[in-house]
Amino acid sequence: MTPQERDTLVGLVAGRVSKKRLEHTLRVETLAVRLARFWGVSEEKASVASLLHDIVRDEPDAALLGLAEDTDDPLAREMAGTAAPVVLHAPVGALIARRDFGVYDPQILQAIAVHTTGAPHMDRLAMIMFLADYCESARHFTGVEEVRSLLFSSLEAAMLRALAQTLAYLRRHSRPVDSHTVDAAAAFARLAAEDSQDLHEACQLT
Ligand SMILES: [Fe+2]
Ligand SMILES: [Fe+2]
Repeated sequence: MTPQERDTLVGLVAGRVSKKRLEHTLRVETLAVRLARFWGVSEEKASVASLLHDIVRDEPDAALLGLAEDTDDPLAREMAGTAAPVVLHAPVGALIARRDFGVYDPQILQAIAVHTTGAPHMDRLAMIMFLADYCESARHFTGVEEVRSLLFSSLEAAMLRALAQTLAYLRRHSRPVDSHTVDAAAAFARLAAEDSQDLHEACQLT
């Protein structure tokens, strides 16, 4: 993507989201590209995924639900039954990225689709997208610094922390929880437990 192509994309996004959302989107892109460079992931993919991740975030729930029910994309259809309609903008955003922006890269589409809930199996681009959204520079909530401190040491550890905090927050405020978030948190917790088991065994061998 040339700088001109990026400018064009930013202009198109600006025409579809609020000013506030656009500013958030650009902050997410800044952090995602930094993380992509550090973790050896395509910076261009991180940029495109970031610019499009909230493309339908300002659309009403009913419109998102209509799009999710009316597609053959399995994740969007499945999420149409979600307990937490706010998460729908992620899979529907991926549909729109493909339909209106001609993005066909499956990695980018997946990263957009799971950026709100996370998922049990996430590649580095998807983790970077999720974490950049969670930690962009204007985020100032309890626990965000703990996640920021993990971004350049372990994406998986940062994911586990972010997901656990998200679940705790939603439960504390009696907010609906999408099952993908629960599944993702359990998967990253298992991964962490396996890692510490491996480490434990390795220490015993020496
Ligand atoms: Fe979002
Ligand atoms: Fe976002």
